[in-house]
Amino acid sequence: MRKKITVVGSGNVGASVALRLADRELADVVMIDILEGIPQGKGLDILQAGPVMRSDVQVSGTNDYKDTANSDIVVVTAGFPRQPGMSRDDLLMKNYEVIKGTTEKIVQYSPNCILVMVTNPLDAMCQVALRVSKFAKHRVIGMAGVLDSARFRTFIAQELNVSVENVQAFVLGGHGDTMVPLVRYSNVAGIPLTELMDSATIARIVQRTRDGGAEIVKYLKAGSAFYAPSAAVLEMVDAILKDKKKILPCAAYLEGEYGIKGLFVGVPVKLGAKGIEQILEVKVTPEEQAAMLKSAEAVRELVDVIKV
Ligand code: 2OP
Repeated sequence: MRKKITVVGSGNVGASVALRLADRELADVVMIDILEGIPQGKGLDILQAGPVMRSDVQVSGTNDYKDTANSDIVVVTAGFPRQPGMSRDDLLMKNYEVIKGTTEKIVQYSPNCILVMVTNPLDAMCQVALRVSKFAKHRVIGMAGVLDSARFRTFIAQELNVSVENVQAFVLGGHGDTMVPLVRYSNVAGIPLTELMDSATIARIVQRTRDGGAEIVKYLKAGSAFYAPSAAVLEMVDAILKDKKKILPCAAYLEGEYGIKGLFVGVPVKLGAKGIEQILEVKVTPEEQAAMLKSAEAVRELVDVIKV
């Protein structure tokens, strides 16, 4: 039997996730939203691409959580997106309410699912989902690091005029202005980045990566990025469904790793059928450690406000 994935939210991010999952024929997809008609219409539209895309999965839209029952994975994109001039953190209170209510419903109908969180502010919303769902920590995963790393990789590839496939890079920390692109662990076809670029160029690319989401919000004016975020979700879902044991940077609940306790922060994890199967603790320099702690502090401030 095919796996079932629910995508909560049928806006740009949710619909793009549903489309990518269906195009890859990864699972049956149910899109749910409080808006009437939008998930149904977009779901039907994606379904009708099936014959051309050679994809036999079922895609549907609904306003009723009953239709999401027994999902293997639930991708949560619901909530308010950023507008120009807003930070991800400005969404805290509004999206807290959305994620609390959404998680309660998800758990009621899919008690055994894995939650992939996308809604911002990402790390804090993961914490809400963990507390409300009472799931084991390996079943709540935040999508941020894959996206931030993809942005970093894109800019490196552009700068060096090489294939994006040659570029490996890790961005850790919270999904905010304090994210931590790990330059030492970034390489091009195995060659350390530091051998290929001077420090000023690296610093410029690091900053553009940190501002990657805001750069797009500024162009779009209404809403934030969705093509690269949905691609990042696809990679994570693919790793889970195929039990790939893939090492990816994701937001995970830390209990002492990297000196951080009781918070979601982006770290390298092994993704497989059980969700987060391992948190990898790579060696970091004192500067990198300080940057991780600073990033964690920014997450802590948000979590303290909503007391989760
Ligand atoms: C981004 O970085 C929306 O947080 C998302 O584009």
